[in-house]
Amino acid sequence: MPSNVSAAAEQVRAAKSIAVLTGAGVSAESGIPTFRSNGGYWRTHRFEDLATPQAFARDPKFVWEWYEERRRAIAAARPNSGHIALVELERRAPHFTLITQNVDGLHDLAGSKNIIKLHGDIWTLHCVKCGREKLAREVLSDLPPFCECGGMMRPGVVWFGEMLPAGAMERAAEAVRNADVLIVAGTSAQVYPAAGLIPMGRTVIEINPDRTSFSDDVTFSLQGTSAEILPQLLG
Ligand code: OAD
Repeated sequence: MPSNVSAAAEQVRAAKSIAVLTGAGVSAESGIPTFRSNGGYWRTHRFEDLATPQAFARDPKFVWEWYEERRRAIAAARPNSGHIALVELERRAPHFTLITQNVDGLHDLAGSKNIIKLHGDIWTLHCVKCGREKLAREVLSDLPPFCECGGMMRPGVVWFGEMLPAGAMERAAEAVRNADVLIVAGTSAQVYPAAGLIPMGRTVIEINPDRTSFSDDVTFSLQGTSAEILPQLLG
């Protein structure tokens, strides 16, 4: 284990309160593409066509087909050793908050409990007319799906230009400010307000195979994958 990993693991062991911010990279080793790294969605798709309220208003079926394709890929994926290490970390730490930008639900599936989902959940459907939320993991064969009230359902995720779920950012910021250690894993840290949590951390451990705009400023910049490094932080 490189010495900076053991030094970071020491800080994690000593911490009474831990906050973790995750991004798409944490699910990469479960076979789910990221957005901006090699093979990422935004390398081959325009987010303006798929992940904005305007795109949905223009062509809901097109947007839904992309989401349904992602839902099927995610349904076949399993949590990896990075997700599992975070469950163990939550079990050991007196105070633990997992803040995720991921909508795939793999942290829930692994067994994490105290999760703040900044960008929603791909398994949730939201009625644009009556506001009803519904959990649906089944294959959606008729797209777009409709609510019992007759309104169209949309994916329960946050799109570009939209507000985060009420209170989510406030709770996340409070958890980060109160944490002795903030672990930031698998995010390019380019999307705000989520990335704005990073400078709020006291001791910050970044895990990423690539460098980000925060790498020079964090306490520990650990270069590697989350499935490899997160288990090492458990010591
Ligand atoms: P990105 O795709 O922007 O960044 C993924 C990061 O994960 C990159 O910095 C990679 O270097 C890193 N990475 C790749 N493989 C990894 C691995 N095995 N272990 C650890 N890190 C790895 O994804 P996010 O930062 O999550 O938002 O993107 C943030 C938001 O932008 C997403 O939530 C989504 C997207 O558009 C919305 O849809 C609103």
